[in-house]
Amino acid sequence: MSNESTSNSRRKFIQKVAGSVLASSIPGIIKATGKPDNFEGLLRNYYNPNDNIQIAVIGAGGMGTADGNTAMSVPGAKIIAACDLYDGRLEAAKKNYGKDIFTTKDYREILQRKDIDAVIVATPDHWHKDISVAAMNSGKAVYCEKPMVHEVSEGNAVVEAQNRNKVVMQVGSQGMSSLGNEKAKELLAAGAIGKLNYAEGFWARNSPFGAWQYDIPADASDKTVDWKMFLNKFPDRPFDAKRFFRWRCYRDYGTGVSGDLFVHLFSSLHFITNSKGPQKIMAMGGLRYWKDGREVPDILMGMFDYAETEQHPAFNLSLRVNFVDGTADSTYLRLVGNEGSMNVEWDKVTLTKNQSYAAVDDPLLKTKMNKEIETVYDRKKMVPPSSTIYKAEEGYKGAHYDHFYNFFNCIRNKKVSSEDALFGYRAAAPALLCNDSYFTDKAVKWDPINLKLVN
Ligand SMILES: NC(=O)c1ccc[n+]([C@@H]2O[C@H](COP(=O)([O-])OP(=O)(O)OC[C@H]3O[C@@H](n4cnc5c(N)ncnc54)[C@H](O)[C@@H]3O)[C@@H](O)[C@H]2O)c1
Repeated sequence: MSNESTSNSRRKFIQKVAGSVLASSIPGIIKATGKPDNFEGLLRNYYNPNDNIQIAVIGAGGMGTADGNTAMSVPGAKIIAACDLYDGRLEAAKKNYGKDIFTTKDYREILQRKDIDAVIVATPDHWHKDISVAAMNSGKAVYCEKPMVHEVSEGNAVVEAQNRNKVVMQVGSQGMSSLGNEKAKELLAAGAIGKLNYAEGFWARNSPFGAWQYDIPADASDKTVDWKMFLNKFPDRPFDAKRFFRWRCYRDYGTGVSGDLFVHLFSSLHFITNSKGPQKIMAMGGLRYWKDGREVPDILMGMFDYAETEQHPAFNLSLRVNFVDGTADSTYLRLVGNEGSMNVEWDKVTLTKNQSYAAVDDPLLKTKMNKEIETVYDRKKMVPPSSTIYKAEEGYKGAHYDHFYNFFNCIRNKKVSSEDALFGYRAAAPALLCNDSYFTDKAVKWDPINLKLVN
């Protein structure tokens, strides 16, 4: 459906149905903390199930384009509009999604349109909260890239907007929708590694592109870019192409390596362990190599303390990012328990069991304990496999596809998504607090249940 008047009547019908469902059900679903219990079945109807879900991409750069392409590959979804602040990206969106799509530099024009059911928010981090909240207030479903917010203090507004508007929101840490994350969750629950005591993860990179030195187009200027809009609430300054195209390097717009990368590992870890987050956060690192004017470290190590809860035992987490390391694998997440460990990838889980044996079987010990040494010989035993590899079937479409599939499925079936605003906030908070710890040189205490800093 692309016709505005049909869409208007469709929207009226939708609102009527949604209104009658909601009127009887609002009380009791939002707790004092602003947390949804479970409002499954209470979400609005977006559209006639036979229609396409009509989508606008807001922030049609690198990830917005990847998100748009993946969204389009899921049957029943269609990109009909794009918003970006740079002319070149709007031209590319038309080439990619068709010359008839609606384009604008002002996201508010997207939100006013009645024919748009869902938006993908893939702007730099400092715009995520404002656009997501405004989109939900306009009744749109929102797929917002990670980290959900730029500052910890912004999280409640997003959670509140989702609860109040009863819309579907999915945050974009796609790994947690993967077969690999699901298998790891199942194995942990089945006791495959025993009692969890430790987890670790890292991201290693060693290229200018990997370290955020993206190309700057030749025509970049304040004629082709809406620079004032880009700045949002941050200090006015003359047009600066580096700040616009390499925004990750600057604290006003980006969230450093932890907001960019740690957040993925938090999302996966919290999904696998059912955790709500750590209570203590400490980070250290430095700017060792990419001295190009950036304001954030290129090496960062974070340490996190997870207290015991009903969902998991107490454990520690260690995360690191190194942008000056070309020797290691690029990404890694490992969970360790007293009976083994798991390396978790999006399409593969490697389970390794501890190679321990009872002391009494040790021949050396037997010589000391047992006079019958001459009768003991080192007879070999049958042993179970030390490691088991679970791999996705050939043809698996991958985590990104799954994450969009789940998002659309929630829209169609009025369900709360697995990475909703509350989950997204709890994954973003410890990543953002890593920056606070690094810049203040202090440990930060966090209450992940009530979403509050602890003094
Ligand atoms: N899930 C993932 O694996 C993944 C991977 C990469 C990036 N990301 C996230 O995606 C987001 C975008 O990253 P990117 O690498 O695509 O950056 P990018 O610079 O390539 O694209 C951002 C685009 O947003 C546009 N923009 C800026 N402010 C805007 C506004 N107010 N309204 C409309 N458009 C605006 C810019 O013009 C630019 O084209 C970031 O939050 C990043 O963390 C996620």
